[in-house]
Amino acid sequence: DICQGALGDCWLLAAIASLTLNEEILARVVPKDQSFQDKYAGIFHFQFWQYGEWVDVVVDDRLPTKNGELLFVHSAEGSEFWSALLEKAYAKLNGSYESLSGGTTTEGFEDFTGGIAEWYELQKAPPNLFRIIQKALQKGSLLGCSIDITSAAETEAVTSQKLVKGHAYSVTGAEEVNFRGTMQKLIRIRNPWGEVEWTGKWNDNCSNWSGVDPEVRERLTRRHEDGEFWMAFNDFLRHYSRLEICNLTPDTLASDRYKKWSLLKLDGNWRRGATAGGCRNYPNTFWTNPQYLIKLEEEDEDPDDPEGGCTFLIGLIQKHRRKQRKMGEDMHTIGFAIYEVSKAFSGQTNIHLSKNFFLTNKAREKSNTFINLREVLNRFKLPAGEYIVVPSTFEPNKNGDFCLRVFSEKNADSTYVAFFFDFGFCVLQKIYREIDVDRSGTMNSYEMRRALETAGFKLNCRLHQIIVARFADEDLIIDFDNFVRCLIRLETLFKMFRKLDTEKTGTIELNLINVSSFSSKIFVVFFF
Ligand SMILES: *[C@@H]1O[C@H](CO)[C@@H](O)[C@H](O)[C@H]1NC(C)=O
Ligand SMILES: *[C@@H]1O[C@H](CO)[C@@H](O)[C@H](O)[C@H]1NC(C)=O
Ligand SMILES: *[C@@H]1O[C@H](CO)[C@@H](O)[C@H](O)[C@H]1NC(C)=O
Ligand SMILES: *[C@@H]1O[C@H](CO)[C@@H](O)[C@H](O)[C@H]1NC(C)=O
Repeated sequence: DICQGALGDCWLLAAIASLTLNEEILARVVPKDQSFQDKYAGIFHFQFWQYGEWVDVVVDDRLPTKNGELLFVHSAEGSEFWSALLEKAYAKLNGSYESLSGGTTTEGFEDFTGGIAEWYELQKAPPNLFRIIQKALQKGSLLGCSIDITSAAETEAVTSQKLVKGHAYSVTGAEEVNFRGTMQKLIRIRNPWGEVEWTGKWNDNCSNWSGVDPEVRERLTRRHEDGEFWMAFNDFLRHYSRLEICNLTPDTLASDRYKKWSLLKLDGNWRRGATAGGCRNYPNTFWTNPQYLIKLEEEDEDPDDPEGGCTFLIGLIQKHRRKQRKMGEDMHTIGFAIYEVSKAFSGQTNIHLSKNFFLTNKAREKSNTFINLREVLNRFKLPAGEYIVVPSTFEPNKNGDFCLRVFSEKNADSTYVAFFFDFGFCVLQKIYREIDVDRSGTMNSYEMRRALETAGFKLNCRLHQIIVARFADEDLIIDFDNFVRCLIRLETLFKMFRKLDTEKTGTIELNLINVSSFSSKIFVVFFF
């Protein structure tokens, strides 16, 4: 019975409401060991998932009020405070109450569970949605559905068949039953009010149930008013507008009852002039974005599905943007593309796909859109194999941090595609000229990266970022002097590394003392 206050955070409320349906998950967000009586100390703590980690947020129990009434979230009867305190803790995490204004329920879902949330417009449901729902239920995912409203006046309006509009329901079952020789797809839905049930076809009292094997009927139906009811799947698609699925990470689900997703989490960043290449519309810089090699190893175990393939979800989250609103920043427009790694490259780990590759190869899959939401997420099914995922902002040169998550049905593996250290000698002026096609006598930071590669240096993205920060001017221009300086430093660095790496292991161990005894500023320049 949570009610919204003066703040535009209904998205958060809907997420809090779904949270109450799963005690295990609720107890992680709202730890149980606290009350206003036992060991009461005027403070409370909550836990939220933030880009891969659970963070504990402590708040005192003073809540904003006006004329003696709570200003923001409150309980209908006015005597419960956990939801208001939870809202306060969440606002604290984000810098202010104001920053909570406007969002999507899936954002809240994710911060309360650490899961990955997808949603479907039921008018445009994919043909295998029933199977997706069944599998989601087997994986212990949280499923919510709702009917859109066209005006505020329609909120909680009840249709003639007793469905409530603009109201968050949960989905609790999906079964195929044999009804007089034909298979019927049915879905079970729960109204969190604990009452007001669907009265159309296949409701719990529907005469059709007498045409179903009594044992199955007994297992599935409960003929009392508890808010939970069955309906035909095609009626569900017709009457409801939206389905949200929050897929949980393996650690959220203690029980072995569930089949779990396997999860990969990769962090990265876009840096102006170095690794913020923008989308495919910018072919000169697109290739400089961070690239991730994903190996899909095994096909789904799905005997009913003749197509085969590996099911996986990719979610790209941009970090810290909401917090930066105070500084006049907002969400970037983000998306990603997936490229098939051709057989020629397969098994290699040191390929960073080049500009030419992207000029001549189409993306195998991509995010539905580039959009200014915190997260862009899509579900895919591809044959087992190796793929490169390229996350990017729409426009180049936007600084940002991101987290890329891959949820796959079977095992998947990934590597960040780093450039390998591989030294080759070069004639510096010739290279500079080759890259500086307009003979301007300068090159920009992206040309610099190509020049370094031509010179035989394969560096990882982090090093490119450092080089640009160190050698490019404000307009991201690198003149010949700086180009030479940079290459000489790199060369010295590589030479020194080789000398120290006497065993040729590819790693050396240094502490502050022997770094300074080598009197090398170079390490300091590049690594600190
Ligand atoms: C809260 O802040 C965190 C960290 O800055 C961010 O990940 C999250 O999206 C924010 N959520 C909301 C609702 O502001
Ligand atoms: C089904 O029947 C039970 C018992 O007669 C009644 O309480 C319940 O409201 C009925 N449900 C519907 C959806 O008609
Ligand atoms: C029984 O189920 C069939 C198939 O779903 C449907 O066409 C029919 O209308 C249902 N009958 C009742 C009484 O709901
Ligand atoms: C630097 O010193 C540490 C500790 O004394 C030693 O383990 C390491 O091998 C030294 N590194 C080199 C390159 O000599």
